[in-house]
Amino acid sequence: MSKRILVFSGAGVSAESGVKTFRDYDGLWENHRIEDVATPEAWNRNQKLVLDFYNQRRRQLNEVFPNEAHIAIAGLEKNYHVDVVTQNVDDLHERAGSTKVVHLHGELKKVRSTSDKSLIYNWEGDLNAGDKCELGSQLRPHIVWFGEALNQDFLLSAKNAAEQADICIIVGTSLLVFPAAEIPFYIQQNCKLFVIDPKANELNLPIKGKNVFLIPKKASAGMKEVVEWLRENGQ
Ligand code: OAD
Repeated sequence: MSKRILVFSGAGVSAESGVKTFRDYDGLWENHRIEDVATPEAWNRNQKLVLDFYNQRRRQLNEVFPNEAHIAIAGLEKNYHVDVVTQNVDDLHERAGSTKVVHLHGELKKVRSTSDKSLIYNWEGDLNAGDKCELGSQLRPHIVWFGEALNQDFLLSAKNAAEQADICIIVGTSLLVFPAAEIPFYIQQNCKLFVIDPKANELNLPIKGKNVFLIPKKASAGMKEVVEWLRENGQ
């Protein structure tokens, strides 16, 4: 039976594709304060600003491509059972070929009803005021904003993936946003943990000791190192 790998990713895995991270730019995200664009209050205050902001993010997806890190992660499926649990709302893991991806914080290419959150639709272009669900309510980005609950089924399946993992790769996340950042804390003590992040040494990690490999590099170089290590060590 093939070994199980959990990849837990954040904005840093997409940085080399040209997608900005959240906390590397003086608290601003694409020139906006997070609370102005990524909270229910922001939506209630200025729907147009929030729609425009996510329309720009959605348009940006057409201009960016998976990088070597996404591709290496997808390539792991040749030899392992791989669960990708991502905080990212882009679709770069899927476009690289990963087949099991859980998006804890939603997806840019989906929208949902403001009156019934189970009504979720695929969406490619801009979302505008007046775009409505089948019940006649305004549609909103399918993003988990600050102060909103995560999908409990997704959280559960992510925790299960962590508990069962033989190998965990944390890549490109500050591990600062909860409850998402709890997920890697469900791995077992004997799980091999790789942490890829230029700031790897500063992160608060789930386990300590000989099974932890800190790789203070960018995602693509770090993933290359992990793939080589797995091959050389017969994992
Ligand atoms: P952060 O911006 O908090 O962290 C990004 C991490 O990536 C940092 O630790 C950087 O050091 C690292 N990094 C930067 N460039 C990198 C590269 N080229 N390769 C590898 N790592 C790199 O992003 P997240 O941890 O993803 O939520 O943030 C978590 C959540 O906070 C996001 O999902 C988002 C945000 O608010 C929502 O929008 C709901």
